[in-house]
Amino acid sequence: MTRKITEKVTWVGKIDWELKKFHGNELSTHRGSSYNAYLIRDEKTVLIDTVWKPYDKEFVENLKKEIDLKEIDYIVINHGETDHSGALPALMKEIPDTPIYCTANAVKSLKGHYHQNWNFVKVKTGDTLDIGNSKLIFVEARMLHWPDSMLTYMTGENILFSNDAFGQHYASEELFNDKVDTDELYYEAMKYYANILTPFSGFVKKKIYELLNMNLPVSIICTSHGVVWRDNPLQIVNKYLEWANDYQDNQVTIIYDTMWDGTRRMAEAIAEGMKAVDDSIVIKLYNASKYDKNDIITEVFKSKAVLVGSPTINRGISFSIAGILEIIKGLGFRNKKAAAFGAYGWSGEGTGIIAKELENAGFTLVNDGIRAMWYPDDQALNECREFGGRFVREL
Ligand code: FEO
Repeated sequence: MTRKITEKVTWVGKIDWELKKFHGNELSTHRGSSYNAYLIRDEKTVLIDTVWKPYDKEFVENLKKEIDLKEIDYIVINHGETDHSGALPALMKEIPDTPIYCTANAVKSLKGHYHQNWNFVKVKTGDTLDIGNSKLIFVEARMLHWPDSMLTYMTGENILFSNDAFGQHYASEELFNDKVDTDELYYEAMKYYANILTPFSGFVKKKIYELLNMNLPVSIICTSHGVVWRDNPLQIVNKYLEWANDYQDNQVTIIYDTMWDGTRRMAEAIAEGMKAVDDSIVIKLYNASKYDKNDIITEVFKSKAVLVGSPTINRGISFSIAGILEIIKGLGFRNKKAAAFGAYGWSGEGTGIIAKELENAGFTLVNDGIRAMWYPDDQALNECREFGGRFVREL
């Protein structure tokens, strides 16, 4: 199935209703996803991006129903990651000489993945391709989120083909942003930003200002995942600027793991203490061993501070807390505060290990953390409440 976006532009991608994990097991996609590819018909015909490899045959068959493949004059690959380039090998078997417009870095990534000497045409920022009444303007978008990433702008229709930028893992029969549930859409857009783009926030800001300074009118943003932004498309651009600016809500997230409930009781008492001091603050608790890691990361993204707790296990910390701290470190959050806590029986290194990890991840430690020996009694829980109160006062 294909869908018209404008007279000249047709969506020829694939909705993946079944996708639950992306990047191997690194990213959860509870609402599926889509791999958006677009066909432009002007005097010349252009295909923008393809779909993920498992759907390569479906994609090519579908495209054949829309157009004689030999009529495709140019292919533009905005980004070499296999969710967008995966159908290239199947497509290029049919039209092997068709030029592929992409960045020099995309030639490297595409050759690295497929080991083919296709007819690559390297483009850089400001290069254009005349396709008839419209022309395509290419804008390199290095590290958004790969070195090879690029945006393509179509004059006349005023469409920005933004690839991963402004996208969401969100399968929907509705193609346009004004037709879907706004809360779901923004949750998925934020989750995408938090889990994938956070490390590149500096590049995001720079690229958006560069785009705005180009004074290109934008009527539609065609992303490579999720919806097409046609209703006030700059809303997501402005939202990205907000998110890229070390975004935070009035929220504290408590992430913990627990063996015999001691660290859980501490987490809950700390939350009570915080709430008693500041009722306006949003406090959320997640057991990292039971809750989706990427949804937790989305909550960390929204938070001005985090508390992370684990019981001491074998002189270390729990598997799930070590895992979430590794993700947090990689994402490079900025301007957030933190503290550690945890129950222990004898050696009790866990709290110190977490504090060090948080500091290494760029968080500002508010204090040295709090520990409780064995199972916290009333006095220990009261100390946790007081600790929570002091923590919130120092934010
Ligand atoms: Fe949707 Fe970076 O690939």
